[in-house]
Amino acid sequence: MADLCGKHALVTGGGTGVGAAIAVGLVNAGAVVTITGRREAPLQEMATAHPAINYVVCDVTDSDAVKTSCGKAAETTGPIHIVVANAGAAESKPFAKITGDDFRAMLEVNLLGVFNIWQAVQAQMVQADWGRLIAVASTAGLKGYGYVSAYCAAKHGVVGMTRSLALELARTGVTVNAVCPGYTETALLERTLKNIEKKTGMSREEAKKTLRRDNPQGRFILPAEIAETVLWLCGEGAKSVTGQAISISGGEV
Ligand SMILES: NC(=O)c1ccc[n+]([C@@H]2O[C@H](COP(=O)([O-])OP(=O)(O)OC[C@H]3O[C@@H](n4cnc5c(N)ncnc54)[C@H](OP(=O)(O)O)[C@@H]3O)[C@@H](O)[C@H]2O)c1
Repeated sequence: MADLCGKHALVTGGGTGVGAAIAVGLVNAGAVVTITGRREAPLQEMATAHPAINYVVCDVTDSDAVKTSCGKAAETTGPIHIVVANAGAAESKPFAKITGDDFRAMLEVNLLGVFNIWQAVQAQMVQADWGRLIAVASTAGLKGYGYVSAYCAAKHGVVGMTRSLALELARTGVTVNAVCPGYTETALLERTLKNIEKKTGMSREEAKKTLRRDNPQGRFILPAEIAETVLWLCGEGAKSVTGQAISISGGEV
């Protein structure tokens, strides 16, 4: 396991699901961790359970608030060495019914949210000549799915931004990567399943079976599996890995 003693990691959307698993993984590897999100309750619960976790309430779509929250995190815990841009949301609608506002909302949280946090911290990482910028994208950043064109567009954008920024920073000690999970067991998946039940009249089991079929291993990914990949990317052994979009999907893509 990577030894992250002395490192300060910031995880957006770290109060729940994938982000919470990543935050715990980072703590177990020795890092101190700041988690962010819009709702205070899940953040507070995580911080209470793990003394090495602090939190700042922040909406990733608000670039000024993101800058301020990074300042606060650095004031409390020191310079930020690792950022995991994990906050995201998935709304599904047929393409013909998506409004401009729907589309913009998906881009704001899933793409600009990553841009805002990476831009807020990258200069200090470059100056320190060490850093890890990691995005939790999705298999939806590598292939299409029906009824989530705005989400797919945003996640493809994250993969493109990752590849470009990795080239810009290649001569520094900062690596830039995306992890791309398939359907993962979290509250987001629960909402997706409920939506399928509502829209199609399928039972919960049928809805699960339909989604599991996308994964050649026939199962959902666990948040801890994504955390393992993130931890590996944080270690010195992965210093030559940059500009990658790593699929964690049982061979789906
Ligand atoms: N579950 C899956 O099947 C799956 C598959 C592939 C990729 N992913 C990606 O994994 C990431 C984490 O999702 P999850 O599955 O763990 O779902 P989740 O439990 O719903 O987590 C999403 C997190 O993002 C935060 N968030 C949402 N909008 C935000 C905003 N505007 N500003 C700040 N924080 C915000 C949420 O906290 P607040 O609501 O308190 O702000 C929450 O903690 C997302 O980027 C998602 O696209 C998920």
